[in-house]
Amino acid sequence: MKFDNVEEFRAKRSAAVSYIQSETDFQPEYLLILGTGLGQLAEEIDISDTIEYDDIPNFPVSTVESHHGRLIFGHLGNKPVMAMQGRFHYYEGYTMQQIAFPVRVAKALGVQTLVVSNACGGLNPNYRRGDIMLINDHINFLGDNPLIGPNDNELEPRFADMSEPYTERLIETAENVALDLSIKMHKGVYLAVSGPMLETRSEYRYMRQLGADVVGMSTVPEVIAAVHMGLDVLGISVITDECFPDALEPVSIDDVLEAAAMAEPKMTQVIIGVLERL
Ligand code: HPA
Repeated sequence: MKFDNVEEFRAKRSAAVSYIQSETDFQPEYLLILGTGLGQLAEEIDISDTIEYDDIPNFPVSTVESHHGRLIFGHLGNKPVMAMQGRFHYYEGYTMQQIAFPVRVAKALGVQTLVVSNACGGLNPNYRRGDIMLINDHINFLGDNPLIGPNDNELEPRFADMSEPYTERLIETAENVALDLSIKMHKGVYLAVSGPMLETRSEYRYMRQLGADVVGMSTVPEVIAAVHMGLDVLGISVITDECFPDALEPVSIDDVLEAAAMAEPKMTQVIIGVLERL
């Protein structure tokens, strides 16, 4: 799915929004996107309603087995949230517009803030498998982005500003929460690639030299769309493998899921703590 014009996009978004509003009168203010192996946070939500992606008009359908495909509406940290259990990756063959679509629907439902998590590889030699990192900036190496194509100029600027994609106020809040809970948390730059193959030693070396602390295959498209619409953004990465070019070991999806499971309780506590404080 690629939108040919603004009218088509508006019609597709309206159909999705109307369907969701016909299924729930819950009014979310926060959109939570849960990354690979990080869906457990959904268990903490005091659930009001759930809607399967398959049932929502124009919604993409998730293909990765480690992801569920549903929207969860409910309260987390006393805040009204809409959580995407299962997200869409560029390597699955979705267009950037499709990946951004749920974020645009969320905005139309009243969401003001995106909280996004992901699994990633650690490039910074101080990072270890199972650590967590707040994202304070990103580098887009996907070779594509969700703003290419028609723009709804009445709602959003053609040239989105990217001087502070990750909201400083939310970063500070998250740092305070981690400090109070004695959770070690890094802060750094997320570099997005398309995947699905992991990187070569030379690619990891190059990415580190470019200034990235971690590398992953998601998050940046959703964040770009969110920033474009004026949403606040908080991003948290879980380091699932160490990408040190001179000591690189093969990595399997099981290793990634195991490390995500190790780190998930820390990430969950930080996200809930932030929501409670806002
Ligand atoms: N590279 C890219 N994406 C990833 C990695 C990685 O090493 N680990 C988890 N997601």
